[in-house]
Amino acid sequence: MTLETDLRDAIGDKHVLVDPSVTASYETDWTRRFAGRARCVVRPADTHEVASVLQLCGRHGVTVVTQGGNTGLVGGGVPTGGEVVLSTSRLRHTGPVDTVSGQVTVGAGVTVTGLQQAVRPMGLDFGVDFAARDSATIGGLVSTNAGGERVLRYGSTRQQVVGLEAVLADGSVVSRLEALPKDNTGYDLVGLLTGSEGTLAVITAVRVRLWPLFTHRTVALLALETTSDALAALAALKLRLVSLEAAELFLADGLALVMGHTGLPAPIPGDHPAYLLVECADRVDLGDAMLKALEEVGALVPGIVDIVMGDDARSRANLWRYREAHTESINAIGIPVKLDVAVPHAQLERALQELPGVVAQVAPGSRTIVFGHLHEGNLHVNVLGANDHHAVTDVVLKYVASLRGSISAEHGVGRAKSEWLSLTRSPAEIAAMRSIKAALDPGQLLNPGVIFPG
Ligand code: MLT
Ligand code: ZN
Repeated sequence: MTLETDLRDAIGDKHVLVDPSVTASYETDWTRRFAGRARCVVRPADTHEVASVLQLCGRHGVTVVTQGGNTGLVGGGVPTGGEVVLSTSRLRHTGPVDTVSGQVTVGAGVTVTGLQQAVRPMGLDFGVDFAARDSATIGGLVSTNAGGERVLRYGSTRQQVVGLEAVLADGSVVSRLEALPKDNTGYDLVGLLTGSEGTLAVITAVRVRLWPLFTHRTVALLALETTSDALAALAALKLRLVSLEAAELFLADGLALVMGHTGLPAPIPGDHPAYLLVECADRVDLGDAMLKALEEVGALVPGIVDIVMGDDARSRANLWRYREAHTESINAIGIPVKLDVAVPHAQLERALQELPGVVAQVAPGSRTIVFGHLHEGNLHVNVLGANDHHAVTDVVLKYVASLRGSISAEHGVGRAKSEWLSLTRSPAEIAAMRSIKAALDPGQLLNPGVIFPG
């Protein structure tokens, strides 16, 4: 029997996709940088079917790539050629919301928007949010330990995960969904599988922590002379606004691209080198508190040139659009080299000044657009017009490592950066990680080439 025949018996004919016109959307990632033909795409309905798929693929010696919403940016969720793509799209159940513990269990294929819609009517909210919310799935967020726009207040996805269920390469199921607040019984498998990028198991369900839903929000956009001014403004705002939730950075060239692509007018008259978008959220109106804090901070940080505020939903969304439209505006011009890095705050201004020159060493004539999450020193370095993507990746990641930064802040290592893992992880750490991989996936069935070089 062929693998396909076995898979059809296990999960049903119509959920084993082989027609190239149907599988195509699973075979290229969102960035269009990573693509490969899948042997087939399977859409199991539940944990039991996921286990059957892994056992069958193991028996036939065919490797497996797990895919959520296909919004990943490091090539970790698409095939390179010949793998079975396991789509979590049918793992869509949402359990009852436990308002006492403030937790809910959802299937790995539930989107961020789907989770928000399930819990917000109960007065609760999910702590991770970002522009790809309509497609990105909770399983994908957990696999990559996604960050996003609210890390300042709630932490990354890891801090939201209180339990999970996953299928190991041999088909055995580990289920830690009870999520008792106190449970010190052995190794923290939930923590281990979070951020493992599909290399250790297929995550089928996640129990997440929920936060109070805030009914009042205020956004402000600050135009600044330098990114050091942005950092000074952020530090002063954090001292004054406990309700601060987001602090996002973008620069003049990124804003120009966004305005060109979206047709939006300048948010603040004039050209300014740097912009800081901040958002506060609470259960009471924040407009006056934000205004007072901004007045005080304006007096302390002379590099703040101008400020606009958005209180109502429409003006808040308009201001956020300048930040969230960066990704699509850059991609509308070409396929960029996308490098998600973090640097210590003390190195931020220097990194922003030096990065274009660092890139130009190997890609003269290219354009380097940087934006990101200021609180975490997380810079999204997007290089347009470079012929040699490998050389750009190499020079940028080595530069970031020289600043004692991270070569992957929130997108994961994937296939895009596996070659450079040793820049910021020691030989002992990599050996320990490889031992874990070998113990849990001895046949190298799951996501080969992701995290570790192939
Ligand atoms: C963002 O912060 O907008 C996302 O990480 C996407 C990106 O880096 O393009
Ligand atoms: Zn980001």
